[in-house]
Amino acid sequence: MKIGIVGATGEVGRTMIRVLEEKNLEINELKLFASKKSEGKKMKFKDKYYFVEELTEEKMEEKYDYILFSAGSEISKKYAQIANESGNVVIDNSSAFRMEKNIPLVVPEINGKILKGYKGIIANPNCSTIQMVLALRDIEKKLGISEIFVSTYQAVSGAGNKGIKELLDQQNGINNIYHFPEIINNNVIPVIGQVLKNGFTEEEMKMVNETRKIFNDYKIKVYPTAVRVPVLYGHSESIIFRTKKEADIKKIRELLSSVENVVYTDNLITPLNVADTDITYVSRLRQMDEKTFLIWVVADNVRVGAATNAVRILLKHYELR
Ligand SMILES: NC(=O)c1ccc[n+]([C@@H]2O[C@H](COP(=O)([O-])OP(=O)(O)OC[C@H]3O[C@@H](n4cnc5c(N)ncnc54)[C@H](OP(=O)(O)O)[C@@H]3O)[C@@H](O)[C@H]2O)c1
Repeated sequence: MKIGIVGATGEVGRTMIRVLEEKNLEINELKLFASKKSEGKKMKFKDKYYFVEELTEEKMEEKYDYILFSAGSEISKKYAQIANESGNVVIDNSSAFRMEKNIPLVVPEINGKILKGYKGIIANPNCSTIQMVLALRDIEKKLGISEIFVSTYQAVSGAGNKGIKELLDQQNGINNIYHFPEIINNNVIPVIGQVLKNGFTEEEMKMVNETRKIFNDYKIKVYPTAVRVPVLYGHSESIIFRTKKEADIKKIRELLSSVENVVYTDNLITPLNVADTDITYVSRLRQMDEKTFLIWVVADNVRVGAATNAVRILLKHYELR
């Protein structure tokens, strides 16, 4: 199999390389791309070193089995299109194509079957959306969901290399602001991405729109507040959901426990517990009335929320080819 990774030197790109290493895939050609400044950088995959190449249009015109993109929307809009027009299957981590009608937005455990017979660009959802819809998959399927109230507690790695550098610098007394709108060390920032005309942020609207598309239910109401916290890895979410059918807590626990790659536990779960894992953890289940329940959901944003989901898309697409 020939695989290309665009944005290989980034948080998600480096993690995709690690996740691919862990899978039993026969990869005999691996091409790593990033910006000019990373050209010639050496990166290890299994027991071999590979040199990072500068991303160019010509390199996207080559034939690959899969090209994984994680270099931001602007790069995807240009180069993923070229790769696609050259007949390649592209798995894109950016938000460039997620809401396009003909582009599948995929969490394989939920809607992976739409990949059967599909060739083209496949969009990977936003990190906060992935862990939320995974946790709620079987509740949505069996009981229906009318409303989701969610507050996120998002790690700085969600903003890539620069987000991590900003927190670590501030922890070392360098109070520079490069990316976040406020000091993040010892602080929480209730704005992620641009604030839109309706007052919601881009990150919040991603959770609204992507949840509807993945569940294929455009009536679900999602009320999000996205917050950045000084945590390196692992997004947490406080979720209140209202079901269409009545249920008791035992039923909800059962439906939270039946999802692939999701673990329900009565133990306390924090971001430090989930870093570097591929599991979405759900805990602190509570019931308010026969249709209203509260949960706490934590997952590694770079793995579950990006790299692992992208590799799971690849594996699912390959399985259904
Ligand atoms: N981090 C997360 O939790 C997360 C979750 C879901 C989705 N995503 C999405 O994944 C994408 C990457 O995120 P990240 O966190 O990995 O960011 P990152 O750490 O900042 O990495 C960005 C990557 O893009 C490359 N790049 C930048 N400009 C480029 C150019 N002109 N040509 C080619 N490559 C270029 C960088 O290469 P250089 O090293 O050479 O600059 C680097 O490899 C974004 O679209 C992000 O929204 C991230």
